[in-house]
Amino acid sequence: MKVLAILYKGGDAAKQEPRLLGAVENELGIRSWLESQGHEYLVSDDKEGPNSFLHKNIVDADIVITTPFHPGYLTKELLDKAKNLKLCVTAGVGSDHVDLNAAVEKGLEVLEVTGSNVVSVAEHVVMSILLLVRNFVPAHEMIERGDWQVSDIARNAFDLEGKVVGTIGAGRIGYRVLQRLQPFNCKEFLYYDYNGLKPDAEKAINARRVEDLKEFVSQCDVVTINAPLHEGTRGLINADLLKHFKKDAWLVNTARGAICNAEDVAAAVKSGQLNGYAGDVWNVQPAPKEHPWRYMKNPLQGGNGMVPHYSGTTLDAQQRYASGTKQILENFFNNKPQEPANIIIAKKGYVTKAYGQR
Ligand code: NAI
Repeated sequence: MKVLAILYKGGDAAKQEPRLLGAVENELGIRSWLESQGHEYLVSDDKEGPNSFLHKNIVDADIVITTPFHPGYLTKELLDKAKNLKLCVTAGVGSDHVDLNAAVEKGLEVLEVTGSNVVSVAEHVVMSILLLVRNFVPAHEMIERGDWQVSDIARNAFDLEGKVVGTIGAGRIGYRVLQRLQPFNCKEFLYYDYNGLKPDAEKAINARRVEDLKEFVSQCDVVTINAPLHEGTRGLINADLLKHFKKDAWLVNTARGAICNAEDVAAAVKSGQLNGYAGDVWNVQPAPKEHPWRYMKNPLQGGNGMVPHYSGTTLDAQQRYASGTKQILENFFNNKPQEPANIIIAKKGYVTKAYGQR
């Protein structure tokens, strides 16, 4: 079979660090295994436009592997050209780079390595919440500049203790975020999710479900987004909803950039409606140099905790999603059943309940 992989370019780092398995250079560590079984394996980071490696090679590929960190966008138009395609594998978690409705129409299977990086992301969310609330980034920048003016930082630094923290999406990551925040003595933990938690799970993290989104955001000091990107979440955080946020709230989004309207969020940070925004996901990746999230600041010159998309690609996570990808391929080649939690779309349609209510 012809297997394509779209991964990010690792450069010198990937040559020096073989555990960067998710980079083009290290090819998820599966080349010799695939070739020993007679499969053809083509790997590149070149994914945009009709002359790209992805667009040219997808026409006769059987399997496409792509990573959310450098997503090969599998649009309906591109899937129409992929006459032999049977399986799309996400090396990681989050398969929104595939037009999932088109994949259903075509009877494709879409699988991801569920759970592979949920702890990695949950830890990043906790870090991002703390760095916003405690005004860390401008404090560090001040030190690098050679300055020292405690009051300029302290005037916008708070404790997380006593604050209300809420997650949009209380699945694997959202749940783990609230679990990890238990010792901080927050005032309350809230969640908004059409899939409610079981009572014992809710109790274990002291979480209260709020069913109306506007009501939910109006109660939170910190909102963290942990839901997949789909028709029901695209553009969910926009100027209209931001009006219902508490003034000075902090927003952390490590789910997908397009869940937020980029301009509306940047304007809310700039005006001080949001005290800060942090995350690692962008509506286009790689993010263009002029993207407003790179440079936005609140009126006190802080409130920006943006980084490139890396929270779920720690070296620990890469080992897990590389081996999970191999397991998915092995099952596929041998006609063995897939791990149910990994199936986003089976030939018969949606299996997951996380990509919208159907
Ligand atoms: P999950 O499937 O365990 O949980 C997602 C939860 O979101 C589900 O409970 C679902 O019901 C809920 N949800 C879906 N639509 C919603 C809506 N409109 N409103 C409220 N809740 C909604 O997924 P998991 O593992 O927690 O991952 C969540 C997302 O995080 C992924 O889909 C991916 O986009 C993102 N992610 C980001 C990574 C990164 O490196 N930044 C790495 C891994 C995941």
